[in-house]
Amino acid sequence: WAQDASNRPQPVYHFAPAANWMNDPNGLVYYDGEYHLFYQYNPYGDRWGHMSWGHAVSRDLVRWTELPVAVPETDVMAFSGSAVVDWHNDSGLGKNGKPPMVAFFTGFNPRTKIQAQYAAYSNDRGRTWTRFGDKPILDIGSTEFRDPKVFWHAKTKSWIMLVVLAVENKLAIYTSKDLKQWDKASEFGPAGARGKNWECPDLFELPVEGHPGQTRWVLGINLGDSAIGGGSGGQYFVGDFDGRRFTPDPTSGTAPLWMDYGADFYAAVSWNDIPAKDGRRIWIGWANDWRYANAIPTFPSRGLMSLPRTVSLRQTAAGYRIAQAPVREVETLRRDPVRVDELLLGEAEVALPVEGGSVELQLDIDAGNADQIVLALSDDQGFRTLIGVNPTIKELFVDRTRSGPHFHDAFPERHNAPIKIEAGRFTLRLLVDQSIVEVYADNGETTITDRFFPASGKLRWSAYARNGTATIRSLKAWQLGDAVQV
Ligand code: FRU
Repeated sequence: WAQDASNRPQPVYHFAPAANWMNDPNGLVYYDGEYHLFYQYNPYGDRWGHMSWGHAVSRDLVRWTELPVAVPETDVMAFSGSAVVDWHNDSGLGKNGKPPMVAFFTGFNPRTKIQAQYAAYSNDRGRTWTRFGDKPILDIGSTEFRDPKVFWHAKTKSWIMLVVLAVENKLAIYTSKDLKQWDKASEFGPAGARGKNWECPDLFELPVEGHPGQTRWVLGINLGDSAIGGGSGGQYFVGDFDGRRFTPDPTSGTAPLWMDYGADFYAAVSWNDIPAKDGRRIWIGWANDWRYANAIPTFPSRGLMSLPRTVSLRQTAAGYRIAQAPVREVETLRRDPVRVDELLLGEAEVALPVEGGSVELQLDIDAGNADQIVLALSDDQGFRTLIGVNPTIKELFVDRTRSGPHFHDAFPERHNAPIKIEAGRFTLRLLVDQSIVEVYADNGETTITDRFFPASGKLRWSAYARNGTATIRSLKAWQLGDAVQV
């Protein structure tokens, strides 16, 4: 296993580049059997800088192959953006009757500080990219105008580009027929949660679960600070999109809806061009928080992606809510199944028959009369990360206040989320990978994603209940990961 500076094994089934700095996922597109994952990458170091698009591909979303840098820094740094397959060669950039891939990124000019939108294209399945001209395709002279998300809108037969006016907390929507000439259609915001900036927008249509024929549009907006996990994080809106304007549903309320309640799920955006017969909407987030991103104690790479997650939409008593689940391909990584039924929990901590730090756990728990149920993941130096539920106040939490040696003041925190307790019961699904925990509760309606950095790589699982007893009705667990990162 690759090890970092403190001898800690690195995640095995979450994507990280072999070395150097990585932030946002970019250019997510499916083409000819491959999922492309581009990302904000510094080819020269393990802190933010020289921003370029790194590149990895996968056929199953869980086993990734890293490829050479796709879009390098030039006169401008290549900031975040997206990519599409130009099926009908509307751009005229295709060759030999094959649809080109076209990428859109924000070029940040370090001299003028201007942020403008640029395009690049590929006619070789994304292996090499050519910038479309020297000039931006969309420039409004702003220093806070970034993260173009382009997608095809079938009803109006147009290309749509979302771009944030970052510090104004606004989204600008543009339309195009040829991917080159863009006309402004509307703006959205400020709305929901504000903050120092809005970043990395996304917009997609989802069927409403259990209501055949009904759909709504989900607008994802990432926030540079002040999100629910304490720092950078994502919110979403549910509404309608007519090809020009996004209109939020009045019923979705005024309180922000959070993509995730942890600190480490940022800049989440979704794949374009996943075939209709697959039908999934899949997104991925950067598992980090801008407050401490440059300080996390990992080596030789600094930066990790979340698992790719399927996003669906449900009608709940409170209104429409997204639900997330790890892509089903994760199940192909399962080994060594363990199953335990009827495990009574009390004050005395009991060991769980689960080994190590790259595992999946599925728990069905009867809260009994306990007011807290805790799963602890401990290293052999006394550091531990707690995943728990306080059933009386219907709260789920991840406590990483003592999860490892100190490296940044903003890191040792506890993150809370609401959880439903029905007839005294709740279920949890945990995907843990050495230094990341993804908690899926309420069937994916609530997630907490947090990094943790124990002092050593040997991790042990245990559980206990406070002020009463609770019962693990069933625990299913697997080792995860034959995934090899190249
Ligand atoms: C989000 C972000 C984007 C920008 C990129 C630069 O994390 O700030 O808005 O394009 O990172 O690396």
